[in-house]
Amino acid sequence: MRIKKVLASVMAACLSVQLLSACGKEETRISDKIHVGVTYYNQSDTFLNQLLDSFREQLKALDQEDLETTVTIRDAAGSQRTQNDQVKELIDAGCNVLCVNLVDRADPSEIIDLARENDVPIIFFNREPVAEDLLQWERLYYVGAHAEQSGVMQGELAAEAVLSDETTDRNGDGKIQYVVLEGEAGHQDAIIRTENAVDTLKNSGVELEKLSYQIANWNRAQAQNRMEQLIGQYQDQIELVLANNDDMALGAIDAYKKTDYTESSLPLFLGIDGTDVGLQAVLSSEMWGTVYNDEEGQAEAMAKLAVAVISGEGMEDLSFENEKYIYLPYSRITRDNVEDFL
Ligand code: GAL
Ligand code: CA
Repeated sequence: MRIKKVLASVMAACLSVQLLSACGKEETRISDKIHVGVTYYNQSDTFLNQLLDSFREQLKALDQEDLETTVTIRDAAGSQRTQNDQVKELIDAGCNVLCVNLVDRADPSEIIDLARENDVPIIFFNREPVAEDLLQWERLYYVGAHAEQSGVMQGELAAEAVLSDETTDRNGDGKIQYVVLEGEAGHQDAIIRTENAVDTLKNSGVELEKLSYQIANWNRAQAQNRMEQLIGQYQDQIELVLANNDDMALGAIDAYKKTDYTESSLPLFLGIDGTDVGLQAVLSSEMWGTVYNDEEGQAEAMAKLAVAVISGEGMEDLSFENEKYIYLPYSRITRDNVEDFL
């Protein structure tokens, strides 16, 4: 008798759970309108422009009968204050999920407060907030890549080039004289990339001599300008240029093109990103190699996550680290495999 009762109540409970979840599903279906508001630190950034083009496409691809998506993109033009205002404006305009590429990655508090007050989840991307900030609220996520890995890979590519061709050491002193072009001071992808590239080269048995480094803020024109100064100072002593991204490597190449260089006086150039222009430079052998910053994979993860946080569906298809982070792997690119990326 008692067993029967227990069984009956268990069955009733199951049934109601099923009903509930069915209702819940119905409800999310109806509200499956994903209005994404994006703001990024600067519209002159080549890599991010490509990433956001991909993002639009990926989101469009998820658009189905019962799922409507829209995207609004804002350029913060290098000002955190502007970005804070944009977040407010995007929320007021009805965005129900935000993708934020912070101007100042150490200063997200105002944005997080605004989002939390309005219950609008945030997917930070590319410029990683500090870990404590991501813990401020449960509806905060990050999509990006491990900076360390890109540095190691750049170092491996450089080591391979140096060790396979002794003419890289042009003055034959047994050491490679190098300069570094760095991204923004304080960006996780700048110092970490440099350190890991240099350490990897050293660990591969390459003797190095650092001539100088310059900050060029990821920017091609600034890198050209800095490189012109370096060429003026070091003449033909520079044997290797390690750039934290492709645009700066290309700026360095631009600087050499302005001098009357001979093929044999050119250093080896290495970038990171694998942007369209970067890949072209590898294809034409102007740049020895680059490291693919998986713009498509990151855009896809952002699009799927944006849908998942609103619809409640598809979270299980995403691979998180520490429940909030999605990191896409980098890959090495040289003349040998560049076609696979074009
Ligand atoms: C890096 C990328 C750079 C630049 C920067 C902006 O990951 O390699 O080219 O886009 O992000 O935050
Ligand atoms: Ca040398």
